[in-house]
Amino acid sequence: MKHVLSITYSQSGQLNDIVTNITDNLSKNIKVHHHKITPVPNFPFPWTGKSFWNAMPESVQMIPSEIVPLNIDEQIDYDLIIIGYPIWFLSPAIPITTFFLGNQAKSILSNKPVLTVIGARNMWVMAQEEIKKMISECNGKLVGNIALCDKHYNLISVVTIIYWMMSGNKNNFLGIFPKPGISDEDISNVSVFSPVISNSVTNSDYDTLNEKLVNLKSARLIPDIVSIEEKGKRMFKIWSKFILKKGGPESNKRSFRLKIFSRYLLFVIFVVSPIASLIYYLTWPLLFIRIRRKLKYYKGVRLKAY
Ligand SMILES: Cc1cc2nc3c(=O)[nH]c(=O)nc-3n(C[C@H](O)[C@H](O)[C@H](O)COP(=O)(O)O)c2cc1C
Repeated sequence: MKHVLSITYSQSGQLNDIVTNITDNLSKNIKVHHHKITPVPNFPFPWTGKSFWNAMPESVQMIPSEIVPLNIDEQIDYDLIIIGYPIWFLSPAIPITTFFLGNQAKSILSNKPVLTVIGARNMWVMAQEEIKKMISECNGKLVGNIALCDKHYNLISVVTIIYWMMSGNKNNFLGIFPKPGISDEDISNVSVFSPVISNSVTNSDYDTLNEKLVNLKSARLIPDIVSIEEKGKRMFKIWSKFILKKGGPESNKRSFRLKIFSRYLLFVIFVVSPIASLIYYLTWPLLFIRIRRKLKYYKGVRLKAY
């Protein structure tokens, strides 16, 4: 019998559904042990405007909070560890960072193959860079990544995700917008990855797992979105440091800076990013080879880190 350990954090349950659809379809000789991360205190869902923006500085600077220790049977020699996580402000969600920075992750992940599963709006590559580092600091080995996104146009998905996060309802905003988040079809089709994962686990061979996943379209990337994300992450680092100078999550002194950041971000998303995308595609022919190389890197194709 082979053993797979799945560790997820999800507020709405979307990510748990994605991971369960993968693990439920693994071969019968694989036993899956599921664990969910619970933050202390829990982050609100639905969010209030204030709590939503307040999560930015600690998400970006990767400052851990607290989670309930996972009740994992560490006597079992797990063959694969699946980590399912959402993205917060181009960074891993705080509870996931907290898990990785704790002692439990070090003992569980050490010398183990790790498969990451992401459920995001459409910007996940910068967070995955941080996750790669944390996996390697825990002495684990990243063997693959599956990233599911909202496939609607960028600005539409911003409106619908804000509606979803603030209302808790994953339905059609005003009856005219599409459903927020990852489509039901994509969530159910994720089982397409199960046979190749089963094969790797059964044969204890992960060398080509990520390439096989990529061939099955495990990581969809939109070039201009990746470029905006790279620049956005640099700006978020600056903003988060600036806000943290006024104190931690409990501090009321940082409210004003958070408010300016929220206005800045909405301006960048709705005004600057469409112009940036246009410029990006105008320069595309000149940068074609560099862009292709970069996308391959983020997908993890033929990459040392995988
Ligand atoms: C505070 C916050 C910030 C988010 N920032 C991003 C982001 O930078 N990029 C992105 O693609 N999705 C972002 N999302 C969407 C999440 O990655 C995720 O898709 C959504 O929260 C649903 O995840 P769940 O499984 O926890 O319910 C954000 C969500 C929240 C709550």
